[in-house]
Amino acid sequence: MNIIITGAAGLLGSHISRHLLSKGHKIIGIDNFFGGYKDFLPKHNNFEFYNLNLEKDIQGITDIFEKHGPEVVYHFAAYAAEGLSPFIRNFNYTNNVLASVNVINACIKYKSKLIFTSSMAVYGNQQPPFTETLPQKPIDPYGIAKYTVEMDILTAHEQFDLRYNIIRPHNVLGIYQNIWDRYRNVIGIFIRKTLNEEPILVYGDGEQTRAFSDIKYYIEPFDRLLTDKFNGELFNIGADKYFTLNEVAETVQLIGLKYGYSASIQHGAPRHEAKHAYCDHTKAKNMLGFKDETNLVELIESLFVWAMNQPNRKVKNIEYELTDGMYEYWQ
Ligand SMILES: NC(=O)c1ccc[n+]([C@@H]2O[C@H](COP(=O)([O-])OP(=O)(O)OC[C@H]3O[C@@H](n4cnc5c(N)ncnc54)[C@H](O)[C@@H]3O)[C@@H](O)[C@H]2O)c1
Repeated sequence: MNIIITGAAGLLGSHISRHLLSKGHKIIGIDNFFGGYKDFLPKHNNFEFYNLNLEKDIQGITDIFEKHGPEVVYHFAAYAAEGLSPFIRNFNYTNNVLASVNVINACIKYKSKLIFTSSMAVYGNQQPPFTETLPQKPIDPYGIAKYTVEMDILTAHEQFDLRYNIIRPHNVLGIYQNIWDRYRNVIGIFIRKTLNEEPILVYGDGEQTRAFSDIKYYIEPFDRLLTDKFNGELFNIGADKYFTLNEVAETVQLIGLKYGYSASIQHGAPRHEAKHAYCDHTKAKNMLGFKDETNLVELIESLFVWAMNQPNRKVKNIEYELTDGMYEYWQ
């Protein structure tokens, strides 16, 4: 198949691209390197890449669809900084909603099947584990953006017969992850801090719970979505087992010590976030053959070792649209 993967230089995009290339598909990657890196792109004869901003370059998107006539589009591109999203509302909606709308338009026009990664942020602060049947109650602009795109896809399905599936992943970990972003990927931030022997900063009391999973368990379900057997379905994917952020911080600290890096653990002001957030994955297990056997300690150690061998990339600051209520650690 000819398959477009947006966000190909990011965590999910780079892994799913590699997998689908290994199965003989032609992959057309799109990314603007806002959150991913050129080094993370696969090097393969069947991989063609376009450096393009999905928010703005509608003609560029049309040209790519016209040239390649993709059967399937995995739309991963996004800036998934949930905690920062209230301070970059305009950018958040432009990046997460309008860029997605440009992809949706092209999928309708070229009759491509769309696989969209939403987020468990759509559930907000409800009682976990979240099942797909819960009403969406996002508590921040990032969650609202994902919810909006889900609704837009649903209406495109009903009116234009757009074929689609939506995955709501959560807390995925793996190599080719951006650990140089100050605003997102808690374990990536803890690892970078430890490698620089700076304090690991836990927001709030650290008793928030999250479930982290290895990217390798995402490959099979994403692969199965290629077929038309699944259409109009919504799945949670991620780990069942959850940990407190204090436990995670201590794990990273211990792994750091094992490799000769010493970092203290400190606590900062609590963030506006769901206290406990993890999902039920029964549907993906039953329908997509999903199984998660993540060993978090081993997974963090493998990521730590990978990070040790990465260049010390620059950590960028993002221009805030609002500074009201901005946390001290992001000032
Ligand atoms: N990783 C997770 O734990 C997780 C959890 C929930 C949802 N998701 C969703 O899954 C998707 C992939 O996440 P990821 O972890 O791979 O993120 P990532 O940041 O590693 O990759 C996203 C990629 O999209 C690119 N991108 C961003 N804006 C773009 C634009 N305007 N034009 C072109 N490219 C652009 C970035 O440069 C980056 O390479 C995202 O939609 C995210 O919201 C991820």
